[in-house]
Amino acid sequence: MNKIGFIFDLDGVIVDTAKYHYLAWKKLANELGFEFTEDQNELFKGVSRKRCMEILLDIGNIEANTEQFNRWMIEKNVDYLAYIEKMNESEILPDVPKILNYLKENKMPIALGSASKNAKPILEKVHLLHYFDVIADGNNVTKAKPDPEVFLIAAKQLGVAPENCVVFEDAVAGVEAANAAKMVSIGIGNKKILSHADYNFNNFKEIEIEFIKELTERR
Ligand code: BG6
Ligand code: MG
Repeated sequence: MNKIGFIFDLDGVIVDTAKYHYLAWKKLANELGFEFTEDQNELFKGVSRKRCMEILLDIGNIEANTEQFNRWMIEKNVDYLAYIEKMNESEILPDVPKILNYLKENKMPIALGSASKNAKPILEKVHLLHYFDVIADGNNVTKAKPDPEVFLIAAKQLGVAPENCVVFEDAVAGVEAANAAKMVSIGIGNKKILSHADYNFNNFKEIEIEFIKELTERR
């Protein structure tokens, strides 16, 4: 088998934390006097915390000075962390361990490529941190997805050429980032939303080990 690097997004791919991000942003929006819908939350997937805050204020048509902006961002994160605190293995998305175990058993390099600054504590909470050879996250990057930076950092640290990397993503911005990095993009979730991915699956239950094997053999 060739050396292929496997890069996983976190939120919405490994764990279903998108709902907690949503609830925390919704609470802030409501406090600021406006509604924030699940449809609007789609725009927040894969996007940095700062960019989410900017979009939220746009939605609410609210102007804020830097101090307020930062205070609200901290408030959202405090609420989000309260949800994370209660997380355990039961919140790992179905069949994620099946894929991680197969890759580990076959000594495939595994990285996390996430926009989140909370990635490590979340992986610790759900006891998956030990699978990852490399963690590239919101603490390492200067440019957010759809910029490919986070995935290129992950590939570099894995010691695998970008074109030999496979990315699992649930966000439009994330698939765009993987494509821009010239990696194989696998969209996890709604195919209509992630139509620009090289491959699409609704979830990991639909991914056969045979498919992963083929990915490692096709190069
Ligand atoms: C991404 C999520 O993984 O991380 C986004 O999809 C989130 O919704 C971003 O805004 C940043 O997360 P955090 O944990 O640093 O606020
Ligand atoms: Mg995601």
